[in-house]
Amino acid sequence: MQVVMAAVDKPRSVDYKGATDLVTDTDGRSELAILEVVRKYFPDHLILGEEGGVSGDESSDYLWCIDPLDGTTNFAHSYPSFAVSIAILLRGKPIAASVVEFVGGPFCWDTRTYIASAGGGAFCNGNQIHVSNKDEVERALFVTGFGYEHDEAWATNIDLFKEFTDVSRGVRRLGAAAVDMCHVALGIVEGFWEYRLKPWDMAAAVLIVEEAGGKVTRMDGGDFCVFDRSVLVSNGILHEKLLDRISPPTEKLINDGFDFSQWYKPTGYVSEV
Ligand code: IPD
Ligand code: CA
Ligand code: CA
Repeated sequence: MQVVMAAVDKPRSVDYKGATDLVTDTDGRSELAILEVVRKYFPDHLILGEEGGVSGDESSDYLWCIDPLDGTTNFAHSYPSFAVSIAILLRGKPIAASVVEFVGGPFCWDTRTYIASAGGGAFCNGNQIHVSNKDEVERALFVTGFGYEHDEAWATNIDLFKEFTDVSRGVRRLGAAAVDMCHVALGIVEGFWEYRLKPWDMAAAVLIVEEAGGKVTRMDGGDFCVFDRSVLVSNGILHEKLLDRISPPTEKLINDGFDFSQWYKPTGYVSEV
């Protein structure tokens, strides 16, 4: 967090991983700072970092999933929706999580820190948080995201964006999946979905949503695991209503042969979910 805060008002050094997939020197520096602490205190744990990949002991029950900067495009533009996201998994299940959201923008940067532990509730800057109790799609606000690959799943989500914009109060697209999900936990939006996120995008925020009383599944309604390629999180009350619209096009993608098998799971790591 300190690494990112120190960089928000400085010029960026931007590189490209893909046509629109940016990476800055802050992504790397933030990950190194996190790795230093994790390796010092948990030398026998396994680590999966977005920038550095897999390191540590693959036979460990514990896996750290680290997104050193979620919402890099926003960070590169000083647009206020990015975060540092860290979770620890026990045999595949998140048990503790922290997301630091950077808010405010130029001349007024600040942070909101979300934490959760399995069975221990979810908190934002020390205050216990809960999902909203809205029970009508027509009165709900949603948020979604679009990955860097403009494939069939991306096109399907453009259609979902259009459909939900028509039937709800609106769909936002802020550009940092971990932040979007924490906003569901905070009760300021009712649901979030996205195809093709990676474990480091989701591992911390899904626990924060669940501990705030929300629900997490895949976009076809199946049981969720952080290695899955789709996620739907909601306040729980609206989950089935969201699935009524989101699940059929997702099943169509699956039937058309689109690859929804789990990915980015370290080879030797044993996950029980
Ligand atoms: C991205 C953000 C974005 C989402 C992309 C992610 P990154 O993460 O979470 O909101 O739409 O799918 O890859 O690349 O900024 O860490
Ligand atoms: Ca990310
Ligand atoms: Ca990232």
